[in-house]
Amino acid sequence: MANKSKFQAIRGTRDLLPPETALWNRVEQTAHEVFTTFGFGEIRPPIFEPTELFARAVGGETDIVSKEMYSFPDHTLWGVEGQRTNIILRRPNFEDIRAVSLFVSQVDDFISQVDVALKAGEMPKTNDNDRALEQLRSGSDRISTFLVPSTAGLSEEQFKLTVAFIQDAAAALKFGDQVSLRPEATASVCRAYIEHNMQQLPQPVKLYYMGPMFRRERPQKGRYRQFYQIGAEILGGPDAPAIDAELIEMLMTFFDKCGLQGTELSINSIGHAADNCRRGYVARLKAELERVKDKLGADSQRRIETNPLRVLDSKLDHEQPIIEKLPRIADHLCDECKTHYAAVKHELELRGVIYRENWRLVRGLDYYMRTTFEITAQGLGSQNAVCGGGRYDGLVELLGGPPTKGIGFAIGEDRLILSLQESGKGAAPQGRDVYIAWMGERAYATAIRAAKDLRNAGFRVELPPTELKFGKALERASKLGSRFALILGDNEVQSGEWTLKNLATSEQQKLTEQALLDYLHGL
Ligand code: HAM
Repeated sequence: MANKSKFQAIRGTRDLLPPETALWNRVEQTAHEVFTTFGFGEIRPPIFEPTELFARAVGGETDIVSKEMYSFPDHTLWGVEGQRTNIILRRPNFEDIRAVSLFVSQVDDFISQVDVALKAGEMPKTNDNDRALEQLRSGSDRISTFLVPSTAGLSEEQFKLTVAFIQDAAAALKFGDQVSLRPEATASVCRAYIEHNMQQLPQPVKLYYMGPMFRRERPQKGRYRQFYQIGAEILGGPDAPAIDAELIEMLMTFFDKCGLQGTELSINSIGHAADNCRRGYVARLKAELERVKDKLGADSQRRIETNPLRVLDSKLDHEQPIIEKLPRIADHLCDECKTHYAAVKHELELRGVIYRENWRLVRGLDYYMRTTFEITAQGLGSQNAVCGGGRYDGLVELLGGPPTKGIGFAIGEDRLILSLQESGKGAAPQGRDVYIAWMGERAYATAIRAAKDLRNAGFRVELPPTELKFGKALERASKLGSRFALILGDNEVQSGEWTLKNLATSEQQKLTEQALLDYLHGL
């Protein structure tokens, strides 16, 4: 018997359903409108990219890249890959001629499968793959000699070396690229900027995006494995502090238009990677952390080595007094970064943007420099950051493009929606304007026409697919939250005067079709 187990959405993913999706649409529409008024255009990058892109941009040591990405090899040669594993794991016995012969035929079969896949373009045709195939062929020739009795003078040592030679070649073959579902989109936007030569457009280029991102985090309120971001990036042009400030102004305008409450903007500058700036600070911080290492938890102890700045992010109660005494980056910025930071704050004040400085705001991705910022909102519990962003001059260059300034942010749309709902700004269930209660075949034809005309005029209409007694129809109409019922029976069709019932007041009136449209429009 077929297994009838129920399917459920995968842990950390969820269905977004009506009426909530109406709120999602409203938020996204607001983003389109606000961002357009600031001169941004929409970009829609793919949902998966080479793993290497994220490793390089976000940083191999970050939690996102080292633990949270959904990655998989992008090919369909599972059978051939299985053969490869088999070959790599075999330890054929030198003295067992049958085992040696089986190994040789497995290798030869594997070689011909790889050859076919390469010729068909199912495997990447790279120099490395060509070289590995050549090595496999010569290994196969060599090992065949162990099958011929006249060469019995060959040693077991030589046999083992030949097997290893073949196994190394098999392991070196690349069946396809390693790809990942995007954990964020800044890397993709920079990749696209380079790929489409956007440095030749008037600078800076201002782009925004919205869509799903994927991180294998421990799910909880406001934290999902598939979540949605609305983000914006400014690439190219100068690093004028006004750019940082205007981007943040746009963000706060957007939150305001959405009706988000209790927002708090925190800002910081983490300087740039130089000995007289962040690198010097990190060295001092590391030295300080080493001194208090014993008092820190395991995560922070590990981070002293991998990324000392991230220790400042710690939420552990017992670490707070220790962290408060650590050296602060603001005291170690170089003159240019210090001036830039002061100017960003001034530019924010010119725009009436209220901020709070937070020297511990370092962000969890490697590409940031100078300005970093985060916004929290109410009603979210521990996952209360609705937006994070910052400047990342140099990222485009790191990905193979020209030296380019950059700054951007990403809003966690799930959290934004949650916060709106918590403050009573959720969407109302989608009702209907008119429910058409019809009876009889002639009335049905009129009902279809009436539905079409009303919908064309922009009204939300429910036309029941089967005939219902008027009482039943009115009951359904109320359950669907309809404002009016349009009653169409033989009488109405004959007279051309339709009955419109207001379901809140129970008042009824007779109207021609045109008068009905005029009446509804006039409401
Ligand atoms: P991020 O801080 O990793 O930055 O993410 C931005 C926002 O996405 C967070 O503040 C949060 O609201 C939301 N978010 C992150 N992870 C989850 C999750 N698992 N579930 C729900 N919401 C989540 C970035 O992604 C950068 N790319 C931002 C940026 C753009 N910086 C410069 N340009």
